[in-house]
Amino acid sequence: MFQINEHYLQLGESYLFSTIARKVEQFSATHPGADIIRLGIGDVTLPLSPAVISALHRSVDEMGTKESFRGYGPEQGYAFLREAITETDFRKRGINISPAEIFVSDGSKSDTGNIGDLLGEGNVVAITDPVYPVYLDTTLMRIGRSDRIRLLRCSGENGFLPELPQERVDIVYLCYPNNPTGTVMTREELTTWVDWALVNESLILFDAAYEAFIRDESIPRSIYEIEGARRCAIEFRSFSKSAGFTGLRCSYTVVPEELMVITHSGESVSLHYLWNRRQSTKFNGTPYIIQRAAEAVYSPAGQQEMQVMIDSYMENAAVIRKGLMDHGYTLYGGEHSPYIWLQCPDGLDSWQFFDHLLEKCHIVGTPGVGFGAAGEGYFRLTAFNSAERTVEAIGRIARLSSTR
Ligand code: MLT
Repeated sequence: MFQINEHYLQLGESYLFSTIARKVEQFSATHPGADIIRLGIGDVTLPLSPAVISALHRSVDEMGTKESFRGYGPEQGYAFLREAITETDFRKRGINISPAEIFVSDGSKSDTGNIGDLLGEGNVVAITDPVYPVYLDTTLMRIGRSDRIRLLRCSGENGFLPELPQERVDIVYLCYPNNPTGTVMTREELTTWVDWALVNESLILFDAAYEAFIRDESIPRSIYEIEGARRCAIEFRSFSKSAGFTGLRCSYTVVPEELMVITHSGESVSLHYLWNRRQSTKFNGTPYIIQRAAEAVYSPAGQQEMQVMIDSYMENAAVIRKGLMDHGYTLYGGEHSPYIWLQCPDGLDSWQFFDHLLEKCHIVGTPGVGFGAAGEGYFRLTAFNSAERTVEAIGRIARLSSTR
């Protein structure tokens, strides 16, 4: 009989956001008139910006003529986009990253999962708890439930920031601004992690998908702002939340050229070379029209329009924070992140609060325990709905709180 990768059987029955979608669908079916407000999955609601839409129209037209039609593109991404990324996201901020170190892709979810293809099974992998479920699930798919996975427990006591591992760890996933807790790492805190990785010869997989939401210039937006990170970190960036590309799909991964690993036989191998090798075998590149759309994000108009979108989501985050704090909630995040992480009231557990909010307020959020055991008793709300719906949602929660 053929065999399967039995590690898959150790995964939870379904992916968190699929479970929530199913529950909400069932609720809608039994409550047909309910006006449900979705503050659950971090999906954007504002339409694509005019600069992006024009670029899409132009590139679609290009695909329709013999002279400008494009077939396969470079697996790593077109030079026009890699250069635009490098210039705006790195060079202008004084960060040393070259276009050759950028790999354009179709989403950070894919890349943070696929990066595991390069990593040996013997590695000890540290993952924060709570965590964006993709890091843990894809690690489980690769190595199974094993004592080589270390959970770095985060809690109210440590401000939902992980402490350095006390024992040997080879690989750590870090995501800042954090999904799900919305917390950020200061330059000093991130420097501590980079120094730890360099001393221990460990690899940091740094997910910076939410960097555009940082409002304070002193907070690092890229791990490469930290001295030495080029030798110990891979960074993942996304257009999904910043430019509204959740439906278009575009992201990029930075693999610096000096990031090296020593093999069992003592040979020095470049991770840049390995990722390039992996991508050119398994990936045929992000569609041309999508890359043109992403390039438009870096035009002066695109940058300004993106900022307007981000500002509008961050105003929602402020409304959520204030509304909840006024009603006595303990919360984290929402200041440099579209996520607000709150403690469930009245001793409810995460799923009880999910049901309570859905039944009483017709609001969908995400139960903290879905992000790991340390998320039990917490709940995540997103700022990605419209201003009007966000205000309405907070009003409903306020009314519910007043009746407690
Ligand atoms: C979330 O809600 O955590 C995100 O939308 C998930 C993702 O970006 O894949």
